[in-house]
Amino acid sequence: MSVQELEKIFQDRIDSEIRIEPRDWMPDAYRKTLIRQISQHAHSEIVGMLPEANWITRAPSLRRKATLIAKVQDEAGHGLYLYSAAETLNISREEMIAQLHSGKAKYSSIFNYPTLTWADMGAIGWLVDGAAIMNQVPLCRASYGPYARAMVRICKEESFHQRQGFEILLTLSRGSADQRRMCQDAINRWWWPSVMMFGPNDESSPHSAQSMAWKIKRFSNDELRQRFVDICAEQVKLLGMTLPDPELSWNEEKQHYDFGAIDWDEFWNVVNGNGPCNKERLAARVQAHEDGAWVREAALAYAGKKRQEKDAA
Ligand code: 3HC
Repeated sequence: MSVQELEKIFQDRIDSEIRIEPRDWMPDAYRKTLIRQISQHAHSEIVGMLPEANWITRAPSLRRKATLIAKVQDEAGHGLYLYSAAETLNISREEMIAQLHSGKAKYSSIFNYPTLTWADMGAIGWLVDGAAIMNQVPLCRASYGPYARAMVRICKEESFHQRQGFEILLTLSRGSADQRRMCQDAINRWWWPSVMMFGPNDESSPHSAQSMAWKIKRFSNDELRQRFVDICAEQVKLLGMTLPDPELSWNEEKQHYDFGAIDWDEFWNVVNGNGPCNKERLAARVQAHEDGAWVREAALAYAGKKRQEKDAA
C-alpha cells in the first residue's frame, strides 16, 4: 500500500476512536511527537521528585513524612510507566535519559522553583498535582494505547497527591498567624508557575493543532488552563486564602473566571534553562544516574547470567 493509503487507514482509526498500538503502522511524525511528549512527561515525573524530596527529612510529623514519602515514590513509578510507554515507540531508556541530561529534552518548568517552606508541599500537591490532573485525565483517552493506559493508574495516584496537598494547606490555614502567613506565601509563589504548566497560549503552541488532530491532546492548553483557574478560584475560598491575581474575577457572561496576564518571559526563561533551580535539578539527576550505575551494571550482569543458565539448560 502507498504511504497515502496507510495514512488514510491510520487517520480513520484515530477518527473512529480505535487505539493505535505499538505494532500498528503510524506516521513517523506521530511516533516522533509521542516520543517527545511521553519522554518529557516521564522526565517531569522524575525531576518532580526533587523539590518534594527536599522536605522528607523535615516533615512536621511522622504521618506527614510517610505521606510525602509515598507521594514522591509514586512520582518515580509514574516516570517508569511513562519511560516504558515511550520505549514501545522504539527509543531506549538510555537514549531518553541522555537527552534529559544533555538538556536536549525538556521537563516541566514547574520543577525549577525552590521549595522554601513546609507549606510548599501543600501548594505543590494542591496546585501542581491539581494542574497535572487537569492535563492528564484527558490523556487517559489519548490515541496511543500504551500512553493512555499508563495515564489511568497515574491519574488515580495524582488524586491522592492533590488531596494530601490541599489537606496540608487546610491545616495550616486553621493554624497560628505564622502558619497562615506561610500558607498564603506558598500559594503566592506557586500559583503563576502552576498556571504556566499548561504550556504556551494556543496561538503560540506549535504542537497543539496536530496533537489534537491525532487525539493525543483532547483539549487545548488554554481550555485546560481555564478549567484549572475556575476550580482553584473556588477552592482557595475554603482555605480562607487568596490567589495572587488582582484581575481574577468571575465573568457571568463567559461563566468562567477572568484572570491576569501570564508572564511569558518568565515561562520561556525557565523553559530555556534559566529558572531558579534548573542547573541544580539537572545536576542532581546526572549525579543520581552516575551514583546508580553500579545497580544497573549488577542487574544487567545478573540478567545475563540467568539468560546463559537458561540457554545452557
Ligand atoms: N514546561 C516545559 N516545557 C513546556 C511546558 C512546560 N510547562 N509547556 C510547553 N512546553 C514546551 C513543549 O514541550 C514544546 O517544546 P518541545 O517542542 O521542545 O517539546 C513547546 O513548549 C511548545 O509547547 P506546546 O504546547 O506546543 O507543546 P505540547 O503540545 O507538547 O503541549 C504539554 C505541552 C501540555 C506540556 C504537553 O506536552 C503535555 O500534555 N504533556 C504531558 C503532561 C506533562 O508532561 N505534564 C508535565 C507535568 S508532569 C507532573 O506534573 C507530575 C505530577 O506528578 C506532579
